[in-house]
Amino acid sequence: MKKIIAAVTSLVMLCGMTSCSSKDEKDEKNGKKVVGLCMPSVDLERWNTDGEYLKNLFEKAGYEVKLVFSQNDATRQNNDILSILNDGVDLLLIAAVDGNALAKPLDDAMSKGIPVVAYDRLIMNTKAITYYVSFDNFEVGRLQGGYIRDALDLDNAPDSYSIEFVSGDSGDNNASIFFDGAKDVLDQYIKSGKLKVLSGKTTFEETAIKRWETENAENEMKKTLSKYYTDKQLDAVLCANDSTALGVIQAIESGYKGGNQPVITGQDGDIENLKKIIDGEQSMTVFKNVRDEASVAFEVSKRLLNGETPTGRLIDSLAVDVRYDTESYQNGAKYVQSYLLVPAVITKDNLQVMVNTGLYQWDANNKYIENAAK
Ligand code: GAL
Repeated sequence: MKKIIAAVTSLVMLCGMTSCSSKDEKDEKNGKKVVGLCMPSVDLERWNTDGEYLKNLFEKAGYEVKLVFSQNDATRQNNDILSILNDGVDLLLIAAVDGNALAKPLDDAMSKGIPVVAYDRLIMNTKAITYYVSFDNFEVGRLQGGYIRDALDLDNAPDSYSIEFVSGDSGDNNASIFFDGAKDVLDQYIKSGKLKVLSGKTTFEETAIKRWETENAENEMKKTLSKYYTDKQLDAVLCANDSTALGVIQAIESGYKGGNQPVITGQDGDIENLKKIIDGEQSMTVFKNVRDEASVAFEVSKRLLNGETPTGRLIDSLAVDVRYDTESYQNGAKYVQSYLLVPAVITKDNLQVMVNTGLYQWDANNKYIENAAK
């Protein structure tokens, strides 16, 4: 863990030279710079935590915050960002619903000289992105694929096993990277025949689940089970995140007659899925401490708001493991300077890791995990 170096950051209040009169008047009136926080939806558990935690960090530092959730609707997110720009803003921090659908508002932001930080999900085909803060998304997929490799002992087991893939939303740039990371581990076993995909669905496009929705994942898995697994055993399902894993678990509960418990992966550490992990219906999740991700995004944003240009040296002053990267994320318009945090595998054996973050606590019976009291 990197030692945190006490840094005293004086907040230099510079009136934006290009801002509209209403924002200048507002700055003079309350002396606060404005930060726009744009999250995809309240429907996926993690974004509520990201949004609230980011809002608290910026407000405690003296910024005015406009926090919007766009209900997984790309058009709505475009309009939300345009209205924040119209009201006047000094920095945008955006977790995109659809990374390919934000060019218009971001060209607007760039023309006004407003810095834009892509949060968690890369935003494509625009030079407006100043920085990208996320977890190492390829590693997330590798951890999921590696868990299945080890749980089935693919390197030593004499038999072959069956597997299905359930991926994320095709508009989410992360989703294809998660998939690529998992296949980076598992492709060799598919090629050798040690792993068999009975449905034949082996590409991201064939396995993407719209808006990551549980119901969509459940319906797809029900169709796969009834078509290919009525008299065959299903050994593993690589689910890209917890909301899709929940749908797969529900489909298996209602329609799988194989008698075995397939290995099922996830991501995010959603409360419902932690229960499934404790009850043995889900094998693992990939935990990404959103407080760490939010704190790195805050530190990058604070420096941009002060007119500074964060570089790799910033990570020396952060209390979390994070890698500075300028070569992995090319968004179709530029290589984006990225800060990538480290994800962790959580199983029923190390749930205490999550409690130790302060975000979670054991319930009254010390059996299940719940969100920590705020
Ligand atoms: C991804 C994000 C994951 C998860 C998923 C939806 O973009 O990186 O942490 O939130 O969306 O569940």
